[in-house]
Amino acid sequence: MNNFIFQNPTKLVFGKGTIEHISTEIPANKKVFVTFGGGSVKTNGVYQQVKRALTGKDHIEFWGIEPNPTVETLRKAIAIVKEENCDFILAVGGGSVIDGSKLIAAAALIEEDAWELVKRPSLYRGSLPLASVLTIPATGSEMNPGAVITNSALKEKFSFYSTFPVFSILDPQVAFSLPKYQIACGLTDTFVHVLEQYLTTTNQSPLMDRWAEGILQTIVEVAPKVYGEKPAYDDMATFMLSATMALNGFISMGVTQDWSTHMIGHELSALHNLTHGHTLAIVLKGTMWIMKEEKGDKIIQMGKRVWNIEDSDREKIIEKTIDKCDEFFRSLGLKTRLSENGIGKETIDEIVKRFEKRNVHFGENKTIDSSATRKILEYVL
Ligand code: NZQ
Ligand code: ZN
Repeated sequence: MNNFIFQNPTKLVFGKGTIEHISTEIPANKKVFVTFGGGSVKTNGVYQQVKRALTGKDHIEFWGIEPNPTVETLRKAIAIVKEENCDFILAVGGGSVIDGSKLIAAAALIEEDAWELVKRPSLYRGSLPLASVLTIPATGSEMNPGAVITNSALKEKFSFYSTFPVFSILDPQVAFSLPKYQIACGLTDTFVHVLEQYLTTTNQSPLMDRWAEGILQTIVEVAPKVYGEKPAYDDMATFMLSATMALNGFISMGVTQDWSTHMIGHELSALHNLTHGHTLAIVLKGTMWIMKEEKGDKIIQMGKRVWNIEDSDREKIIEKTIDKCDEFFRSLGLKTRLSENGIGKETIDEIVKRFEKRNVHFGENKTIDSSATRKILEYVL
């Protein structure tokens, strides 16, 4: 096990009717900048609950942070925060609203343009305090310092690291209004977050392995229930907590990580504005297949422990495990081939060109360069 420092300061407020906690969790005398997405919160009662909880607090609303949040929209928010001297950001929405708000909270403290901050971490000078009311289980942004920002003019999408939310409110009831497609993408995102931290080298930490396998098994078990008709509250609660636990540092202590699937997936979102979880459902089969020598032992461990695959032939277990993951995504209605989603060879060429220019080397052992990426994407074409 590698040395590590672990600290996660986000206070989780979890359960039915918890949105009202905003009123006591936000310190008095703050001028609150409240951020929203495209309006789903107005139809499912979340907005009304947030407004009630903000009664008596000085606050400004900002609407329109889109899925795959763009710097173009966020620049408008940053200008208002600066002009109005807001000193607390409350993000009400999914990963996109929370991620976008992380950039707002950090860029408000510097003179430079927000995209410069995304591209040059050395410009980071801290962040205004930020909290969230989560409306979709998926990214883990509610309990981590990451954000992923799109520049729609350049068709680029890059990660940015800032602050942990001070607190996050997770009321699973809010997720009942999610469209099935978003549930499918959230389940997939959670599943692949675990894999990016788990599907590496065996024997690093039996504890991390079993926590990771526990989340994977839980997601596989709960997926048909929350994707099906009339999910129960406890199933939605299980999904929501699993998504948070999949990317808040708890399963990555002292172990190596990978993230190649995400890095390639971000390019698909950048070029085609495809929903994040969906990109992962497409790319994962390719990364597992192309890295099957490197990851073979761990793929086999996953196959046996998560999918209960029994076979004496090593290659067969690997193949079956990869197929099981793909079948899982397809059982959620996701089309897992590029061509099924109207994406062709030109996109592969463009991504390979970008990766060549950036000289990327992703993955646990830095083996995923532009030519490995071509193989991965051609495998899932
Ligand atoms: O904008 P509104 O109208 O609210 O609609 C949203 C949006 O259209 C809708 N929605 C959210 N909650 C809802 C709801 N509809 C009905 N009822 C509800 N309760 O769902 C759509 C998708 O929302 P979005 O916030 O984009 O989803 P998600 O949470 O999956 O976030 C995706 C973004 O997060 C990034 C992704 O790259 C992508 O940009 N990620 C962030 C990470 C992080 N911060 O750690 C890690 C992830 O790997 C990921 O990259
Ligand atoms: Zn993700």
